[in-house]
Amino acid sequence: MKKYDVIVIGAGAAGMMCAIEAGKRGRSVLVVDHSKSIGEKIRISGGGRCNFTNLDINRENFISQNPYFAVSALSRFTQWDFIDLISRHGIAYHEKTLGQLFCDGSAKEIIAMLQREMQAAGVEVALNTSVKSIDRTDEYQVSLSSGMMVSRAVVVACGGKSIPKIGATGFGYQIAEKFGLSVVETRPALVPLTFAPSDLARIKPLAGTSVFASVGCNGQRFDEGFLFTHRGISGPSILQISSYWREGDEVSINLAPKVDGFGVLRAKRAENGRIAPKTALQDIVPKSLAGFIAEGLSLDRNLADQSDKSLRLIADALNDWRIKPVGSEGYRTAEVTLGGVNTDELDAKTMESRKNPGLYFIGEVVDVTGWLGGYNFQWAWSSGWAAGQVV
Ligand code: FDA
Repeated sequence: MKKYDVIVIGAGAAGMMCAIEAGKRGRSVLVVDHSKSIGEKIRISGGGRCNFTNLDINRENFISQNPYFAVSALSRFTQWDFIDLISRHGIAYHEKTLGQLFCDGSAKEIIAMLQREMQAAGVEVALNTSVKSIDRTDEYQVSLSSGMMVSRAVVVACGGKSIPKIGATGFGYQIAEKFGLSVVETRPALVPLTFAPSDLARIKPLAGTSVFASVGCNGQRFDEGFLFTHRGISGPSILQISSYWREGDEVSINLAPKVDGFGVLRAKRAENGRIAPKTALQDIVPKSLAGFIAEGLSLDRNLADQSDKSLRLIADALNDWRIKPVGSEGYRTAEVTLGGVNTDELDAKTMESRKNPGLYFIGEVVDVTGWLGGYNFQWAWSSGWAAGQVV
């Protein structure tokens, strides 16, 4: 039976950051992961370039039952601290859009950096290792596929349920429940939305068409890229709104947010009333989308023959298209899991369970979910760092 100060379950962003910090403080640390390599989500993130943080981090960029919970960790280990870390390792990066920072080269550089930092801090890593059970007396007994370990502290950094193909399990929620912590209902987030077969029949020919759109639901609105897919809608604006959308909700989509559709159509009617509305719309949105809007309204007369009321209907279909998705693509493609370990159960400064001294939860397994744009990694770095100062 081997003894450690700290056992971290999960070699993802949060777990590795915590292990590095604890190791630097002289703690003996073992990181356990059932995958064959560390940082699998980092590797596939940001299209292989990892959107590792954002220049503009505020509590409004995070969803949680307690909107203030994340503030402490985020303000003690900030985006600037992470930028400083990667700069010290010579990793080049750039801002893509909306403050989102990506590696110039590859996400693998971040993984290699974390590996180097773990080595320097004397952290041990056990891959291809599963956790059979965790029990607590004075200390924690952690039964691994490789044998029994004992530690003073256990840090649960197993992530959420998204992308089971690369090792996501929901195991962290089971540990929470076993130790009596409540878990806020989980659901896939940052995920494409899907349509009912009746809507899909009309939309399918548009698959692959993309525009810049403004998408709203339940009091939130995102102005970003928008894409029609074979099963519904996607693109950054839809991934963002998916975190706020619930079954039965309507989504309002402005397919041309920089254009006052009614004003433009009226002007075109005055200039050249002999053109079809579909032709007029082609100056505003891609041809296929113009056809889709015109067909949806059964417009068979020229612009000159359209009343103001009719132009208003066309403009609404352009600037305020309403649609009710029926579902999402689920955990198979979701970037994150909404919900998780109830923040009421944790100390916001240390991430320690209030009921179980020595048991910590960090990263995505906690009920803190960031927007698209580097916020989820920043939460992983910050919460991992916070626990790493005290374990
Ligand atoms: P993470 O999921 O990274 O790590 C958990 C670890 O625990 C894994 O290594 C897993 O194998 C291990 N584990 C799970 N169950 C276990 C068990 N039973 N036993 C042992 N080990 C177990 N965010 C962002 O800010 N910018 C971005 O660019 C992206 N891009 C992106 C793309 C894609 C495709 C996805 C799916 C997600 C993103 N994200 C993102 C989200 C981001 O990847 C995510 O929020 C963080 O990786 C969460 O870090 P954690 O360390 O909490 O969990």
